[in-house]
Amino acid sequence: MSETVAPQLKREIERRRTFAIISHPDAGKTTLTEKLLLYGGAIRQAGAVRSRRAERHATSDWLELEQKRGISVSSSVMTFEREGWRVNILDTPGHHDFSEDTYRTLAAADSAVMLIDAAKGVEPQTRKLFKVCRMRGIPIFTFINKMDRSGRDPLDLLGEIEEVLGIHATPINWPVGSGSDFRGVYDRMGKRLLLFHGGKHGTEQVEEEVIEGAPNHHAVQTAMGTVADEVMESLELLDGAGEQYDAERVGKGLLTPTFFGSALTNFGVLPFLENFLDMAPAPFARDSDKGPVDPAEDAFSGFVFKIQANMDPDHRDRIAFIRVCSGRFRKGSSTTHVRTKKKLRLANSTLLMARDRQEVEEAYPGDVVGLFDPGIFRIGDTLADKGSFRFEGIPSFSPEHFVRVRVADVMRRKALQKGLEQLTQEGLVQLFSEGEAGSAAPILGAVGPLQFDVLKYRMETEYKVELKLAPIAFRVARWPGEGYDPSQFDHTHSIRVLQDREKRPVLLFENEHMVRWIQEKHPGLELRETGD
Ligand code: G4P
Repeated sequence: MSETVAPQLKREIERRRTFAIISHPDAGKTTLTEKLLLYGGAIRQAGAVRSRRAERHATSDWLELEQKRGISVSSSVMTFEREGWRVNILDTPGHHDFSEDTYRTLAAADSAVMLIDAAKGVEPQTRKLFKVCRMRGIPIFTFINKMDRSGRDPLDLLGEIEEVLGIHATPINWPVGSGSDFRGVYDRMGKRLLLFHGGKHGTEQVEEEVIEGAPNHHAVQTAMGTVADEVMESLELLDGAGEQYDAERVGKGLLTPTFFGSALTNFGVLPFLENFLDMAPAPFARDSDKGPVDPAEDAFSGFVFKIQANMDPDHRDRIAFIRVCSGRFRKGSSTTHVRTKKKLRLANSTLLMARDRQEVEEAYPGDVVGLFDPGIFRIGDTLADKGSFRFEGIPSFSPEHFVRVRVADVMRRKALQKGLEQLTQEGLVQLFSEGEAGSAAPILGAVGPLQFDVLKYRMETEYKVELKLAPIAFRVARWPGEGYDPSQFDHTHSIRVLQDREKRPVLLFENEHMVRWIQEKHPGLELRETGD
């Protein structure tokens, strides 16, 4: 590659920020995303994300399910440019149930924004998603939302983050009052007070009104009103005994810069975004089975983190979402699909922009490209111009819900097989077989039961197969490794022996207690949570 391209590639990498927002439903993720898009100029008025969703519902059968359940099942990426930065927000599904898609999306992010409702603190879904980010060691930024309502004591909230999640928190700004007495936030790094003026700026871009000065400055004190003493005390405490900002520890995911604000009233969103863009990492080297792959390497590489089918119900097409990891992606160029060693031409590529799908000519590390899938992609597949390495760290998950699947009409068995084959390739559910050559009806496993609803719906609409799903009373799957002797498990009623898609043995247990019991009985037996 010529010398002129390398510096350009470096510049493109440096200006990219690719992140996901993790939160519990109702913490305000949709609202915050909307406000971020507003500042990015990707939408002109807040409310557009919701109305765009509504529009899509009207035109797509597949999304009917989302509409019915009031949830967002699919996830995509929203992109905008701001003051030289290029921002990619990976939209993790926000529904009450868990799906593996949510986790996999995190594998494509370089950092995460953890959104917390000030009245509720750390909630279960946030905790689970946090754990996945923790495993990857990516930097986590915290936005404590809904400060316009009365919430919990901010010191308590910090304490909870530290205790429950085990990450230290360093407040970049600090709230002055809360609920009806919310006056704004004191920016500790910028030494200024940002004033809150209620909800009137909710749908437009605003610059915060600012009073410059140390916390004990007369004008700052006056603006803080009756809570001035209390805020001073907290700030002194934070300066003395609190965690100070340390870029290196943030980078390692050990310290989370924390911001207070109110997404709904648009307060604190802009200062958050500006700080975040400065502090968050650009795309960094990704691990592969042949060692780390530097994003600035000339040769293009990326991996599939999500496959989505039938976005247009008239065509049974699938789009594979590729996270670009190194080099420059160019439309029309050729690359290798590493698992099958097939040459692929990157012909029909779409980059997903905030408003619409657009064809892209090129993309850089950190970007997400949607490719029409001729039927060869699987979650986790690597594409690479050079070498035959595979990216690691696309997590697979231990299912916790199981159903036995039958067709209502036996004549549709072929269609059932085809549908299950394709939908398991997309990673919607995991497919298991039981008995000699899979003679019994197949068993499906999922992380969240909602995945079965989606499966049922899609099998009916896309493959014209009506499914009967009968839950079975097993809750834990383990893949046996070293020390496995199948004959020991043949006749145990509370354990089922299945095979996964790759024909590896899988044991199903009724509960964790049974797993521990078996482990005690067979201390030499290795039991893994996933097949990989
Ligand atoms: P989610 O995507 O995380 O599920 O949350 P979403 O943005 O849909 O927000 C959930 C509810 O919380 C919404 O109210 C939203 O308006 C509200 N909300 C979000 N941010 C703030 C905030 O900073 N302050 C306050 N007071 N409320 C906030 P809703 O009544 O459920 O929906 P809607 O009728 O407002 O659309």
